Amino acid sequence: MALPVDRVLVEAFEQQLNPLNVTASGIPARMLGFGEISCILELDDMPGVVLKRMPLFHTRAQAEDYLEKYRTYCSLLIAAGLSLPADDALIVQRDPQLFVLYFLQEKLAPYTIGNRQLDHLDDPGVQQLVEALIEAIEKVWAFNARQRRYRLAIDAQLSNWAWQAPQERLLYIDTSTPLFRIDGEEQLQPELLLASAPGFARAIIRTLFLAEVMNRYYDPRAVYIDLVANLYKEQHAARIPLFVHCINARTHQGLSEREIANYYRKDKFIWSLFLAMRKLDRWLHRYVYGKQYQFILPERIRR
Ligand SMILES: Nc1ncnc2c1ncn2[C@@H]1O[C@H](COP(=O)(O)OP(=O)(O)O)[C@@H](O)[C@H]1O
Ligand SMILES: [Mg+2]
Repeated sequence: MALPVDRVLVEAFEQQLNPLNVTASGIPARMLGFGEISCILELDDMPGVVLKRMPLFHTRAQAEDYLEKYRTYCSLLIAAGLSLPADDALIVQRDPQLFVLYFLQEKLAPYTIGNRQLDHLDDPGVQQLVEALIEAIEKVWAFNARQRRYRLAIDAQLSNWAWQAPQERLLYIDTSTPLFRIDGEEQLQPELLLASAPGFARAIIRTLFLAEVMNRYYDPRAVYIDLVANLYKEQHAARIPLFVHCINARTHQGLSEREIANYYRKDKFIWSLFLAMRKLDRWLHRYVYGKQYQFILPERIRR
């Protein structure tokens, strides 16, 4: 299915966008969600399509290279057996030094997004969802095991999936950070993710967290722990025992609730620190450097 993408509209949107106040833009837009890196938008004049804005590139070649990796990553996920939403991508030059990559995806109904499902599913419904998640995640590990060239990573947190329960259809939506290796070589440049962090904080993040955050998504056990621990952040800790039970029944991970709690404490610290540093950087851009700050940040994330 091709997406109805209006390139002229997206270009016009980018040109007049004030990252500090998205909804005040001349072209009406709404924020649908925040991930740790990108922000997710919908334009009133392009309904049914979500935009993921990545203001990370100094040259068009850098943006094209990232897009190429994104495409490879998506086709490998499909080869592994996952389903992805219809998508497209655009590169928009904002100024001589800044190329913004937009990923576009078919918009899925908000209640289908994994974390929102927990608001309304009963226990058997959640169990069905968790089993579909495990099946999809295991497909990734099976793909990694059945050939030597590629290693796929996956961030399996609930907010990265859409679940269409009636059709038992599970879609992986968080494809905009293509984390994978070819012949052992990491394809995603960690420096690019660091570009969304302030200069003064990069050294700290690089040494303390980056290797850990990048490696965890290749590790089956870590991916499951991360998925379950995220239920605290989603305010659904009451479902943790059910998740642990299903995962232990279907895999050999032998997770315990205690290790999930310990992991969450540490992870919460990492991301809260990251966001706090980005806000400080935004403040510095505004009041000290007198430069425009390019990232759109959430005001507060409940954890
Ligand atoms: N195609 C989509 N349809 C509807 N909502 C979406 C879609 N893609 C993302 N979202 C919303 O935005 C959130 C963050 O998107 P995601 O792709 O996971 O970005 P990030 O890489 O920043 O985590 C999702 O959890 C979801 O709430
Ligand atoms: Mg996400």
